[in-house]
Amino acid sequence: MPYFVDIHHHVIYGVDDGARTEADMQAMLKKAYDDGIRAIVTTPHVTPGVHRFDWERFDRHFEKAQHFCASEGMKLQLYRGCEILYTEATCDFLQEERIPTLAGTENVLVEFSPDTAFKVINRAVDAILCSGYTPVIAHMERYMCLVRKPGLVKKLKDNYRLKLQVNCGTVINSKGFFLDRFVRNVFENEYVDAIGTDAHNVSSRPVQMKAAYAQLVKKWGEDYANRLTNGSVLEEG
Ligand SMILES: [Fe+2]
Repeated sequence: MPYFVDIHHHVIYGVDDGARTEADMQAMLKKAYDDGIRAIVTTPHVTPGVHRFDWERFDRHFEKAQHFCASEGMKLQLYRGCEILYTEATCDFLQEERIPTLAGTENVLVEFSPDTAFKVINRAVDAILCSGYTPVIAHMERYMCLVRKPGLVKKLKDNYRLKLQVNCGTVINSKGFFLDRFVRNVFENEYVDAIGTDAHNVSSRPVQMKAAYAQLVKKWGEDYANRLTNGSVLEEG
């Protein structure tokens, strides 16, 4: 079993709806390590121009996380990142370096509300690319416009240099006929660039990387399963 890189994880405590306390964070780090994860890009929710985000607190807690891993002898590399709920202010925030990219690369994790229209997603992708960044669409299986018309995923991939992420939970658990068919289609065509745990805690939304990887190997083969979990999504160019 290989080691994994998780590009979507709400492990830093006290900054969003992920880990609430330092103890929660420590438990999540241990679980991630036990699940075979050796690198995490920490991705707290940010909403540029709408909600103020406390980066000083984030940095303080991020350092505590690093210190904890070292003190426990866990070789778990942590990186800064965020999950951007796309707003009109997003590109300005990126260019002014007021929000981090994924692990300092040109890639940015971006999400939308589930009912966002395709043209809005299209415009956002275009704007992010024009600003010099590569969008990684978080849990792409959540957007109804894509699930209803899977052909639009191909259109996005054909038209833009963007990347797509699916959550581990979606890989493991059946989500009903239509969503399962959609998910099968996007993996079959290798439209997906990475899976992420989107872990928020150790109970209701835990890490499930190892189980998802096993499913991916079974359904789509080891090569693609490796590419989806080894952090290659962070490569630039
Ligand atoms: Fe998330």
